[in-house]
Amino acid sequence: MALDIVIMAAGKGTRMKSSLPKVLHKLAGRSLLQHVLDTAATLGADRIITITGHGAELVEAAVQAPHLQFVRQMPQLGTGHAVQQAVPALHAEGITLILNGDVPLIRAETARALVEACDGTRLALLTIDLADAAGYGRIVREGDSVRAIVEHKDATPAQREIREVYTGMMAVPTGLLKRWLSQLKNDNVQGEYYLTDIVAMAVADQVAVVAAQPVAEVEVLGVNSPVQLAELERLHQRALAVRFMDAGVRLADPARFDVRGTLTCGTDVEVDVNCVFEGDVSLGDGVRIGANCVIRNARIAANAVIHPFTHIDGEALGVKVGTGSLIGPFARLRPGADLGNDVHIGNFVEVKNSTLANGAKANHLAYLGDATVGERVNYGAGSITANYDGANKHRTVIEADVHVGSNSVLVAPVKLGAGATIGGGSTITKDVPAGALAVARGKQVVLEGWPRPVKKK
Ligand code: UD1
Ligand code: MG
Repeated sequence: MALDIVIMAAGKGTRMKSSLPKVLHKLAGRSLLQHVLDTAATLGADRIITITGHGAELVEAAVQAPHLQFVRQMPQLGTGHAVQQAVPALHAEGITLILNGDVPLIRAETARALVEACDGTRLALLTIDLADAAGYGRIVREGDSVRAIVEHKDATPAQREIREVYTGMMAVPTGLLKRWLSQLKNDNVQGEYYLTDIVAMAVADQVAVVAAQPVAEVEVLGVNSPVQLAELERLHQRALAVRFMDAGVRLADPARFDVRGTLTCGTDVEVDVNCVFEGDVSLGDGVRIGANCVIRNARIAANAVIHPFTHIDGEALGVKVGTGSLIGPFARLRPGADLGNDVHIGNFVEVKNSTLANGAKANHLAYLGDATVGERVNYGAGSITANYDGANKHRTVIEADVHVGSNSVLVAPVKLGAGATIGGGSTITKDVPAGALAVARGKQVVLEGWPRPVKKK
């Protein structure tokens, strides 16, 4: 049976008080709408139709999914009016699943259960019992059977006592949906075309109306304000943290742990407080991450230790840290930093687009950019590669076992041969042969017994 998914995302989100359309606000690093689309993409739908309106151009440019099409709703005259806009894009028959762009954590299993409950013949509503149902459409039942949804603003005091509410998600036989939508009226308190009015139409047409419930309440929580967004973020992060801990990851504090992307962890991984993982990050067996690290798009191999306050950002190129390497505290690894095994990068050292072979060390206050660094190189404190001439970038090649003395400037392009030594404070502009000592600084002058000038009286 054909499955179409309609995602409503035309609303303004006034209470966000933001110039960004509500559905583009981010939860765990992904827009609210993208969460819904990613889940929708797993349901095997033939078409995913997203209704846009407020900020339509921004929304349409920001999200993606297979079989995705956009339908615009201008102006926005209610949820029924929204789905009416999608009618031409729907199959003639089959099932239409309706989701909300601002309810990001709906699970695929719940959506699938809703589609199964519909089975192409029934109107299936996702409902939940809430302690505080204010603002929601109430599920009105007679005996066990659902008779109608009454919007909060249209409800009688007795109906407002009902705790079972409509979550905004339903699965409907597509042929019937089209017929019912064409009969909607807006004679209600808000003067809107309510999608929820199709429930009473189904009852009148003797079509069965069934209700399914989500596995967890978090699945149906919508975002209308910055406070709700932050609350949902914490609930989501808490659930992720529990999942990592259940897999054996030791988190110092699950409340101070944020994953905004995909994190994979080996065994015996430890993460101290206030760490943020973004994009695609993998941590090998026995990796330890100190407090206050931000790590994005990086692969960190087994037993590496990332000391506190380290910032790793692989951007598009990625960062690699080899087995047993020690990074930080206060280190910065930028795109294309590719570190071998047992590499040491110490405090206030920045590495960009450089490979460091096994056992290389840069322990203090240094910059390595566009460099190829051999095994066991010792790169002294305060040294930098001058890789940029104001127009182009050039490479610095430092072969195995080179010692670069403190406070050296290596003006690229330049090559230091294997085992060479650079005297501290040198500015190296020419290649240095293997095994040589290069010193490139003013010679020390000593004037014995030199009288220091004194102030004239
Ligand atoms: C809706 C339901 C209510 C349910 C609640 C759950 C209706 C009439 N009411 O109420 O029963 O309990 O959701 O959260 O459906 N939208 C459009 N175009 C429009 C209007 C809305 O795309 O013209 C989108 C909004 O962006 C949002 C969703 O539809 O994603 C729901 O709209 P909203 O205004 O929040 O509906 P509620 O009044 O909360
Ligand atoms: Mg709402």
